[in-house]
Formats: sequence, structure tokens, C-alpha cells
Amino acid sequence: MTNKFYVTTPIYYPNDVPHIGHAYTTIAADILARWNRICGKKVFFTTGTDEHGKKIQQAAEKNNSSAKKFVDTLAENFKNDWKKLDLTYDSFIRTTSENHKKIVQEILKKVYEKGDIYLGKYQGYYCTSCEAYYTKKDLKNNLCPIHKKEVEWIEEETYFFKLFKYRNKLLNLYKKNIIAPEKRKKEIINRVESELKDLSISRKNLKWGIELPFDKTHVTYVWFDALINYYSAVQEKNKNLFWPPDIQIIGKDILWFHAVYWPAILMSAELELPKKIFAHGWWTNNNEKISKTTGNVIGISDLISIAGVNSARYFLFRETSFGQDGNFSKKILISRHNNELANKLGNLISRTSSLIEKNGITNTENKLAKKLRLRKILENYELCRFDKILYYIFEFIDVCNEYIQNKKIWKTKDKKALYELADSIKIISILLYPFIPGISEKISQHFGFEIKYSNICSSLKIHKINKTKMPILFEKIK
Ligand code: MSP
Repeated sequence: MTNKFYVTTPIYYPNDVPHIGHAYTTIAADILARWNRICGKKVFFTTGTDEHGKKIQQAAEKNNSSAKKFVDTLAENFKNDWKKLDLTYDSFIRTTSENHKKIVQEILKKVYEKGDIYLGKYQGYYCTSCEAYYTKKDLKNNLCPIHKKEVEWIEEETYFFKLFKYRNKLLNLYKKNIIAPEKRKKEIINRVESELKDLSISRKNLKWGIELPFDKTHVTYVWFDALINYYSAVQEKNKNLFWPPDIQIIGKDILWFHAVYWPAILMSAELELPKKIFAHGWWTNNNEKISKTTGNVIGISDLISIAGVNSARYFLFRETSFGQDGNFSKKILISRHNNELANKLGNLISRTSSLIEKNGITNTENKLAKKLRLRKILENYELCRFDKILYYIFEFIDVCNEYIQNKKIWKTKDKKALYELADSIKIISILLYPFIPGISEKISQHFGFEIKYSNICSSLKIHKINKTKMPILFEKIK
């Protein structure tokens, strides 16, 4: 299919409460989905929950629940919280769904028949929180390097996937710039060159997983199962034309799985590869790592309660560059809400609206719009530099506010200048829509335009401007 855009988020472990980290990845995908939709592309955006594996089985046992019942309840938490964040995903995939299980087994069968899976014995460490295998050298003070928790020694019969066989193909693939940002790409290349080996893809002493189609005494390793969600999500309802993903958004902690295991599985199954894998940074809370143990997890309702959903979305992508780590601060979120959204954007709109109400408006060419650096915005969409996109939009908002000030429009009652401002507000709202969709929609209703990219260049129809007062977009927070 031409003119399509397929974007994915990782699927989340449902035993965790949805928090700012999960929200960050999912809002980023939502921004790209909304942007591509208003640019006229056919978009498919998928997210979901990763429901098999030892971690979930243990959590269910702790709750005295069957694993299935446990995940059924918890997957709903994610769906409920995603509603609060205004996310427009097209599919929510759960790895316990029959369709997904069937596809995982089909791929396993194909890879097995090709000769890429063999029976062997695994000896090594396993961290259940990461659901990942480690060697002695990977550990820090004998603990998991990520979770700083004790790891388990495993010695068992397992099926291996011939990952090493794909070493050269993977290294060639990285030359095509599939991994972003650049710095992460280099890390992966170094690791693949120095430590790639075959991957254990089955567990014998675990029940909660997808049975191997060629040996029912083993269940599939949870990452092998989970990664395939991106493929099974588009096998439903004739969505297969969306394959392959145009971009897969993930956090930097899970890049190894996505940049190494995932393309190798696809190569073995002879399926097309994703075009881009983007690894974003991590959020800290007041400079501390976010963790349940520290008790500083920022849940979705906490995040929204500070200044509303639009300001939360804006803050997350304005505050830091998408590939870098960010530090969450309630104070800075409020200050951006007050100073940038309320003072700059809100004031531009309320002043322009009331001046039009008082003085009227006359059609003219929008010369003011020449000051907008649209090319830069488009380039930065390609790079997922959301902070820069917002920077250039706000640079133009400043230009518009200065225009009112310098031209003293409240005195001159310049109806043509008011048209330029109204038309510029239209452009600003369309560009901001992926970030603050609720606000852009209100503005579009008031000024009478449809939110689509092609409207950036077509003149605003003045007879559609709403004569009633513009609703307040941002209440200031003390
Ligand atoms: N289930 C796996 C993914 C399988 S995808 C085939 C998993 N799930 S997770 O729930 O642990 O995490 C999912 C995402 O949340 C990751 O992209 C991770 O980077 C992100 N984050 C979790 N905490 C985070 C922060 N504090 N900051 C930013 N993102 C973080 O891994």
C-alpha cells in the first residue's frame, strides 16, 4: 500500500501500573499517528499488553489468581488510562489472544522448518524482571544490571534460535540507518560485533506461555512471543497491507531486543523488516530514577491532574529531546503551562478573537506566515525531534504576538492584519494538533477550519469565524 504509515509502541507488562514512562512512548506514537493522518496518510497505530512469561505468572500467583484472570483485569487498566491521554490507537493487542498465539506458532514452525532452531542446553543467569538472559560478565555485583535484583541460575534443555547466523545480515542492516538516534546505533553495532550468540527461545519449567508447535513440553520465550505482536497486530481484519512498520518507538532499555532479535526473527521468517526503530530516553522524577521501591512513580492520573492532559502532553515533548533522558518536574510543567501555553498561545488567541469581534476582519494575503519556519518543522518530524518542532511553532507564536504589539492593532483596528493573525492561528493549531489535540480542536471550531495539513496553505474562510466568545483554553495555575 502506498501512502500508508504503520507505527507501534512496545506492549507493556500489565502487572505494572501505567505510568509516565509508558505514557511517553505511547504519546510519541500518537503524535506521529495524528500527524500522518492529517497529512492524508492511511495510518495504523498499535499498542497493547505483553501477558506471558515468568514475571506475570509469579505476579498472578502472588495475587492468588489464575494468570489469565489476572491479565484480563490488568489489561483494562492500560485501556482506561490511555483514554485519559487522548490516544488514538487502532489496535490494542494482547499476547494471550488466540490470533496472536496462532501467528507466533506459525512463525516458529516456519523458522524451525528452515533449520534455524535446534535443541540444546542453556546454562546462565536469568532476570525475571527483565525477562532476559545474562552472563556472569553482564552482572553488576552479582545483580541484574538494570533492576539491581538477584538473578536466577538456569540450567535446562532449551531450543535455540540461530541468531549468530544473522550477524552479518544484521550488521549490513544497521548501515541502512534503521536505528535512531545515531548514538544508540553505534552501541548496538559494537555489541553485535563482540557478543552475539544464539538465543534460547523456549522454557521447559514454565507453563504460562505459548507452546512450541514442534514440542509441546516447551513454552516460547516471552520476548520471542512478544516481538511478534507487531506482525500479528496487522494480520487481523485485513490490515496486512500496513506491513512493515514505518517506525517502532521504544525505550532505550529494550533496544537490544528490537534491534537484534526482532530483525533476525523476521529475516529467518522471510518477512519485510521495519523501516525505523527509534529508542527514546528515560524520565527521572526530580532527578531520581522512577521505581516502585522509591515510591516516586508518576501515574497517569497524577500526570494529568497537574495541568490537564494537553499541557502534560506538551510538557513531555517540549522539555527534552526525544532521544535524551528527561527530568520530570511538576514546577516546570506548571511554568510551561502558564508561560508558554496560557501566556503565549492562549493570549494570542484570545486577543485576536476579541479584536476581530470588535473590529471585524478583511480577507488578504497572509504575509505574516512567511516568518514561520515550516521546512524546519517538517525536517524535524522526520527525525522525531519533537522539542524542535515545538520550538519552531512557538517561535512563530512569538512573532504573531509581537505583530499585535508593534502594529498596535487595538488602536489601528487593522482588519487585514487581523486576517493575517487569524490565518496564522489556523496554521499554528494545525501544527500543534498532534501534541495538544483537544486545544487545537477547540480553536478549529471557533475559527471555522478543518484540521488537515493541506489547510495550512489554503486561506481561512472568514465567514466561518464564530462570532461567540472564544472559550478559555488554559486556566493559569498558581
Ligand atoms: N513488555 C516489554 C516490551 C515488549 S515489546 C515487544 C517491556 N514492557 S515495560 O512495560 O516494561 O516497558 C515498556 C516501555 O516503557 C519501554 O519502552 C520502556 O523504555 C518504557 N519506560 C518504562 N519506564 C520508563 C521511564 N522512566 N522513562 C521512559 N520510559 C520508560 O519492556
